[in-house]
Order: sequence, then structure tokens, then C-alpha cells
Amino acid sequence: MKQIILTGDRPTGRLHVGHYVGSLKERVQLQNSGGYQEIYIMIADAQALTDNAEHPEKVRQNIMQVALDYLACGIDPEKSTIFIQSMIPQLTELTFYYMNLVTVSRVQRNPTVKAEIKMRNFEASIPVGFFCYPISQAADITAFKATTVPAGEDQEPMLEQCREIVRKFNEVYGETLVEPKIVLPSNQACQRLPGIDGKAKMSKSLGNCIYLSDEPEEIKKKVMSMFTDPTHLRKEDPGHTEGNPVFIYLRAFSKPEHFTEFLPEYAGLEELEEHYRRGGLGDVKVKKFLNNVMQAELGPIRERRNMWEQRLPEVYEILREGTKKAEAVAAETLQDVRRAMKIDYFDSGNLMKLS
Ligand code: TRP
Repeated sequence: MKQIILTGDRPTGRLHVGHYVGSLKERVQLQNSGGYQEIYIMIADAQALTDNAEHPEKVRQNIMQVALDYLACGIDPEKSTIFIQSMIPQLTELTFYYMNLVTVSRVQRNPTVKAEIKMRNFEASIPVGFFCYPISQAADITAFKATTVPAGEDQEPMLEQCREIVRKFNEVYGETLVEPKIVLPSNQACQRLPGIDGKAKMSKSLGNCIYLSDEPEEIKKKVMSMFTDPTHLRKEDPGHTEGNPVFIYLRAFSKPEHFTEFLPEYAGLEELEEHYRRGGLGDVKVKKFLNNVMQAELGPIRERRNMWEQRLPEVYEILREGTKKAEAVAAETLQDVRRAMKIDYFDSGNLMKLS
């Protein structure tokens, strides 16, 4: 069977290092592994509008920003198709048919939806469109017959919902759609990178992100101000590394060669963590090391981003071409779906049979 990837991001802001370790890095690896025949990377503007209906200009402005972040991370337009969700009307149509296969209570039980409703204070009045976004996400995935969705762990409930829709569709209308599986980052620390303030999630609204486009000085300032272990008051005190954002970031970003280059007195991360727990290792020293690591990892990404920023007309063409290609694929699936549902009236003789 063809191996096909679909994944994407809402264009509500520039992408940050949480997106990078949580999914972007994995995508680039999968892209370059050669194991996938087709790769679709979607800028999910229609989904972004489900909770930004009053801010279409914010969504529009971030389309280019997200495209630049993709290219900066190494998404290669020769190997991956980057496209804009709302430019593919077939996705909306699929969503509408799938809505009949899902109950309101099922969506209400979706833990990601639950958490987001709470976060946005939607409890009293949830926009219907927002409520249905897991169904639209199933349309995104199935329109491309995707087998694989590289994403963060918060997307697992979406994938589960999608698989249920696929099973139900195939059961009712006959084998048509493909069940996808999620690919999570293998490194535990990458699955949920906390904000620099120690809050569970990096989020633009909390102002606790390090962006892929941040300048070196900004990165340094953010790293040096990071929340660490509040019980580690003096250097001599024993410290905690579990749940300590600085160490979580080190687990997500540091490589053995960073120790050789920036901190040769330690054999590796384990030894550094051990010293911190024992006491005698100051936060400033660890943060300085983390800053070196982040600069080494993000420098090449920022350079590539700057390069693409000088070539915006090319980026525009990449999006236009990608969207055209993606639409053709989605149109084919929609045709399969209509045929399976027997609503392909003018393509078959069915309409003229009176009973
Ligand atoms: N929900 C994803 C996000 O919050 C974006 C998205 C939309 C997506 N459709 C998708 C991700 C399909 C994976 C597959 O960024």
C-alpha cells in the first residue's frame, strides 16, 4: 500500500520550538527517509477560523509566516506538497457528509476539544464550526488517503475520532476510506515542551514561547529567564531535574556533540542531571549551556528562513502549485465518496431508476 503523510498547523502565529520538536522535526525526517510516496503539509486556515472568526486578517498574515517556518525547518517543496486548507472546497464538502456519522456526545467527549473549550472560555457558547473541527480534521486526513499523521500527542484524540469516522463510513457505504495512524516523536521530552515560564504548554497567548524566527539575542534572553526548580535556591542545594523546564529542553534539544563543544567537563546529559540533583551546580551554568545548544540548533533554521524571506514570490508559487496539486487529489477522493454514497447522480444512471 502507498504510504501517504498528511499533517498541518493552524496559522495563528509564527511556529515555535514546541512545534519544532513536537512535529516539524519528525516530518522532515520522514520526508527525507524516502519511505513515503506522497507528503501533504497543510496550512489549516479554515480550522484557525473556527476560533478566530473575527480575526481573518490575523489568519491571513500568518499563512506566509507558517510557510516560511516550514521551509526553514527543511520541508522540501520538491518532496512535500504544501497547501492552504480553505482553497480546497472538497474538504468542506467531505466534512458535511462525515457530520452525519458522528454524534454530538462523541465530539463532546473528545479530550482535546474539551480542553480547548475550557481554554477559550467557550463553555457557555461554543461556535458550531469550532465544535465540528475534529470532523473537518478527519476530512483533511482522509481526502488524501493518508496512512500516517506525524503530530503531537494532543492530536491523538483527533486521530481516534478520524479512525472511527473511517470505520463507520466504510461499514455503511463500502470500503472507501483509509484508516490513518499517528506518529509521535520518539523522544518523550519532545512530546510536550513546556513554556519558558514552566506552564504545561507553549502558547502564544501565554507569551511563553521561543519562536523559530527569534533572533539570537531574544533566544538568549528567554533562555536565561527560564523557570527552573523553585526549591533550588542556592547553588549548593540539591535540585530537581524532573519537570524542570531547563532539563526538559536539554532532553529535547541537546546532542552528545554539544557536550563535546560547549561543556566538555561532563560526559553527557545524565552526568549533568546527576550533578544538579546532588547539589553544587548553578542554574546559570545550565542555562548558558542550554542557550549554546538552542543557538546551535536554531541558527541554521533562522538562516534558511531569512533566505526564503528574500524569495517571497517563490514561496507564493510553492503554495499555489501545492494547493493546485492537493485539490486534484481531494477531488478524486470526493468522487469516490460520492460514488460510495450513491450521490454521484449525473455520473451514473442511478437517477433514472425510479425505485
Ligand atoms: N489541529 C492541528 C493544529 O492544531 C492542525 C490540523 C488540521 C491537522 N487538520 C489536520 C493536523 C490534520 C494533522 C492532521 O495545528
